[in-house]
Order: sequence, then structure tokens, then C-alpha cells
Amino acid sequence: MNAIAKMPKTAKERGKVAPAKFAHVVLRTPPERVAMVLDWYKTVLEGEAMYETDGLGFVTYDTEHHRVAVLGFPGIKEHIDGYAGMHHMAFTYAGLGDLMHTYNRLKDEHDIKPEFCINHGPTTSMYYFDPDKNQVELQVDNIPVEKFGEYFDNGEFTSNPIGIKFDPDELSARLAAGESEETLLQRPDGIPPDLTEFPAN
Ligand SMILES: [Fe+2]
Repeated sequence: MNAIAKMPKTAKERGKVAPAKFAHVVLRTPPERVAMVLDWYKTVLEGEAMYETDGLGFVTYDTEHHRVAVLGFPGIKEHIDGYAGMHHMAFTYAGLGDLMHTYNRLKDEHDIKPEFCINHGPTTSMYYFDPDKNQVELQVDNIPVEKFGEYFDNGEFTSNPIGIKFDPDELSARLAAGESEETLLQRPDGIPPDLTEFPAN
């Protein structure tokens, strides 16, 4: 099948009734880990508890009452890698400065580091694992959304839909040294990693 390279109209523009927004993700974990998992999301997302008990918590960081919830399930089994289902959830920052600020804050203050960093082309993305090995992508768009159709048309993504890995310390240092976000967000030439390198948990 050929790639479709255009930004479709919104469902509303097409006269359809669709959700007003994406609301939240709810994660299940053993009851004794609820507080730890909630703390991880509060730390990573700069969130606070909207509601929290020993067995359930809602984390908010914006005007939504909860973006992530954690629910304790007695007897739940541990995460197993490699099963069909959700690969990751993603959070977009306003710019590379905010993303690198977050990378450095998590690394320096909490020893939380990404497992996999890649410039996909459309986004610059860092994949973290939460305490249950759910993958959380912190990302920034590399191009304005109105240019995405044009970008997907230029062949770069089709030629390498995975991306090029990057070193976040190097990217952070280059940004701090004054290189422009626009330059740093461009996907460099290089060999894409094998898809099997992309964590499958
Ligand atoms: Fe993603």
C-alpha cells in the first residue's frame, strides 16, 4: 500500500461526532506498587494527585482532571515483554528546550533516564520505562503540524520510518551551546536501528 501523505480534516470538519479530546491512560499494578508508580508519573510529568488513596490515584499536570491513573489490582501478574497491545504512551513538550530541561531534571534529580532516544523524523523522542515497564515517550514535534503532510510526501520517512538514534547528553549540550532548535530537530543522516532494538515491552 502506498503511503498517504496528507493531514486529513478533523472529524468535526468532516461533519462527524468524535471525542472532544483524548482523556487519559489508566494503568494497573499490584496494590503494593500503586504509590511508587504514582510517584513516578508525578515526577516525570511534574504532576500532582487529583485524588489518591492506597489503591488508586489520579495524576494531573494540566487542565484535565487526570491524564494518568493508577489502579491497584490484587493478584495481578507481572509485565511480560513482547505481547500485542499498547507499545507506549506519548507526551509532547512545547519545544526542545522543555524536553531537554525535563531530560536533565529527571537524570540529575531523580536518576530517571530514557532507555531509547531517537529522532523519528517527525518527532524527537525519548522512551522511558515506568516501574512496571510501561513505555512512556517524551517528545517534541520536529516540524509544525501544518507541514506534516509535506514532510511525509518528501520520502524521508518512507525511506526510514524508524529514525536515527541520538545521544541526549550531546543534544542537550549542543542546545545549551546555542545551536538552534530548528537545526537540532532535523533528523541527521545515518543508519536506522533494527526494529528489534526498539524495546518491545
Ligand atoms: Fe509515539
